[in-house]
Amino acid sequence: MTNPYLLMTLLYAALAVLAALDASLASLNLLPWFNGLRWLRVHLITLGMLTQISFGLAPVLAAARAGRPRPATRWDIWLALNAGLLVLLVGIPLVNAALILAGGTLAFAAALLLVTHLLGLRPPAPDPARGAAGPGGRRFYLAGLAFLMLGIIVGTGLWLGWGPALGIQVPIEVHIHANNWGFMALVFAGLLADLYPGFAGRPLAWPRSLTPIFWMMTAGALLLVLGPWTKNELFTVPGILLHLSATGWLLANVIAPLRTERPAWKQPGLWQLVTAYVWIIAPVLVAPLILLKVPGFPGAGIEQNAPQALVYGWVLQFGLALLPYLFARLLFPERPARLGGSWFSLAAVHLGGGLLWASIFVKDYSTWLHGSAYALWVAALLPGVWQLWQSARAGWAWLEAQEAAPAPQPTSGD
Ligand code: HEM
Repeated sequence: MTNPYLLMTLLYAALAVLAALDASLASLNLLPWFNGLRWLRVHLITLGMLTQISFGLAPVLAAARAGRPRPATRWDIWLALNAGLLVLLVGIPLVNAALILAGGTLAFAAALLLVTHLLGLRPPAPDPARGAAGPGGRRFYLAGLAFLMLGIIVGTGLWLGWGPALGIQVPIEVHIHANNWGFMALVFAGLLADLYPGFAGRPLAWPRSLTPIFWMMTAGALLLVLGPWTKNELFTVPGILLHLSATGWLLANVIAPLRTERPAWKQPGLWQLVTAYVWIIAPVLVAPLILLKVPGFPGAGIEQNAPQALVYGWVLQFGLALLPYLFARLLFPERPARLGGSWFSLAAVHLGGGLLWASIFVKDYSTWLHGSAYALWVAALLPGVWQLWQSARAGWAWLEAQEAAPAPQPTSGD
């Protein structure tokens, strides 16, 4: 039985196509009874696709780095995460407090169980004989999960009035910052630390820089949570500078070893992986104009819409490049695997991001621009979901054939 998170990732990727289509039709007022369930349009990608694959992979990668045997699937974690997500999928659209609380608690329990599981997969003391393998992504996963747990508490409490009780000034921003600058950014950095040698065929440019990158990104994310928590930019500004410097250093680690490797840049996957980070930088470029409250500048419009471009431009695009690679590695471990993605998806995701940002500034055409952005993201998702579907179908067919194959009969000589 292979990794059960692969199937859930595929399921949520397919549902994400429907949610983006729903958001597009709702924006374009084409089908009025399509009301564009806001929560679904980002959480099927974040809590669905990317959280599933990181929960499924982090223990496997941490154990591999530590030279430990591959850990058995922790079905308690899988069940808590997916039961939590399903209960939220019912509770959030219904705005049902009991279901939101139950779903949030289950998702929180899943994250906590995964933290204890990863803590148990400690790498042995550094051994010069093992060369510069280094600690890898484990600490990034652990710090990322800590931010996710904070994000879950604030997200669960968003409609239960917990924000003021916790002294939070801007709860939705604390939720978005904890989950994106914290959880997603750190988990992505951990995945790059563990997987880059596999898909690039060489180590990161400066493996030892992963330690300062880890501390800068974690401290930056913490400051970016404290900023909206206290509504004090004295936290936000250094947080942005620290986090962006760490992100820039991480990207330099990825690009430098392949800079002159032309064949590597002839694949869309690497472009999708690297250029996805443009959408984590975009909100930062306009942040000073929002912080300085420049008259006539649509600060509120950006705060309302920029998270969508962040999730589709950065989180989804990272997934479109890495998920097919991971599916291939987990389902066909004996075959060489390469990054997924397509030139079409690369263009469609970036154009979609551009149109969504344009919808914030060009008010007269905002519904058309917003709806078209989502239509492009639907189009960008389709080849990606198709790649995962083909991989999963072939992988499971091969597994079932193995299971069905008659066990070799002992010959009289045995
Ligand atoms: C149990 C987990 C979670 C719960 C209960 C939760 C809950 C919520 C709620 C209630 C909203 C407000 C939706 C609205 O205004 O209509 C929201 C918004 C948001 N959440 Fe979460 N969330 C969770 C996990 C995550 C994760 C893991 C991420 C990202 C990595 C995330 C990213 C976001 C973003 C970007 C928004 C803004 C959406 C928009 O503007 O369209 N959330 N969340």
